[in-house]
Amino acid sequence: MEVAIGLRDVIAAETTISRIDLEDGRAILEYRGYDIRDLAKHSTYEEVAYLLLFGELPSKSELEAFSEELKERRDLPPQIIGLLTHLSPFCHPMVALRTAVSYLGTMDRRIAFKNREDSLEKAKNLIAKFPTIVAYFHRIRMGERIIPPNDNLSHAANFLYMLHGEEPSKTEERAMDLDFILHAEHEFNASTFAARVAASTLADMYACIVAATGTLMGPLHGGAAQEVMKMLREVAVPWRAEIYVKEKLERGERIMGFGHRVYKEVIDPRAIELKKLAKKLAEEKESKWFKISEAIEEAVRKFKGILPNVDFYSASVYACLRIPDDLFINIFAIGRISGWCAHIIEQYENNTLIRPRAKYVGPKSRKYIPIDQRSNSL
Ligand code: COA
Repeated sequence: MEVAIGLRDVIAAETTISRIDLEDGRAILEYRGYDIRDLAKHSTYEEVAYLLLFGELPSKSELEAFSEELKERRDLPPQIIGLLTHLSPFCHPMVALRTAVSYLGTMDRRIAFKNREDSLEKAKNLIAKFPTIVAYFHRIRMGERIIPPNDNLSHAANFLYMLHGEEPSKTEERAMDLDFILHAEHEFNASTFAARVAASTLADMYACIVAATGTLMGPLHGGAAQEVMKMLREVAVPWRAEIYVKEKLERGERIMGFGHRVYKEVIDPRAIELKKLAKKLAEEKESKWFKISEAIEEAVRKFKGILPNVDFYSASVYACLRIPDDLFINIFAIGRISGWCAHIIEQYENNTLIRPRAKYVGPKSRKYIPIDQRSNSL
């Protein structure tokens, strides 16, 4: 029995949603066959969400109709607002998000239906409501008035508007939009795989998304960007980066935002796009975080030879957008929800239960001893 610890390099299923390949010394990432560099340049999050769900780029009228549908679904039922109000203001916003998703499930009379039409309905609902849940919970926990969605604004601009209470600049809107695009999909990452495992048991879509949000939260996955921000604050000035990284590595600690299970010798293509974005934003906002990030990247390359991943430059982008550190994972989730839904639908439509085996390495065939004849086990 060969053991693939951590399912490293195991191809667990086929997908038509995204492709990661290494070609000519660089990594390719495509959503439904479209290079993310082209999507980053020309697309919007709404268009990418459509592409992921339906498999094709929309026509102008299809995109308009889809964007309208998302707008109509942005608002939250009063029960969900009540729930967010009752949660502890100290709970992590990802805990609030997954609790709200679960609650949304209780309100869906067609929760158990898994045909394509019903699944797409649920997906559109979740994509539209994720930003509202995150912004509302944040404002409620801060004791601030919630700001209802604005139908004149795009998905990205509306999120920043609901979060900060003012319309973002065009640069801020584009930055948020681009960030959502780059986080939307990444084949069998841990949270998507968790969603697909749940879907493979034919669990309902809310259950699958709860599994995904729970999995995304860990610091080795979506939680990395929040840890990156902590590091940027600790380093505080670029010249301290080298000694900080050296000492951390000497202590055997990991540098968050670096390394990747798939991108080993080549850089994560999303990190390239996010670095460009972080640089542009930092110049416009006169922010110090980009220069500190660059110095850390150089030091990690020098002492460990590993490269930044999607989470590294996300941190300075979010800081420039005035997003609180503990909302970083939620931002990732707002982008990734479209990818998760596309994968759940793909799993439902061509389902085989995902149930691997384990190699047992504990004691075998032991004789059962009645309790009154046992001594303390520890
Ligand atoms: N900092 C320091 N060393 C790291 C590292 C990091 N961020 N990521 C990997 N390494 C080192 C490991 O210590 C190991 O070194 P060694 O061979 O000298 O022991 C080597 O690189 C391989 O690491 P491994 O843990 O086997 O890789 P993995 O594929 O299992 O892990 C991650 C991938 C993402 C979990 C890992 O790179 C990591 O913990 N990164 C930080 C968290 C993060 O940014 N997560 C977001 C991912 S998008």
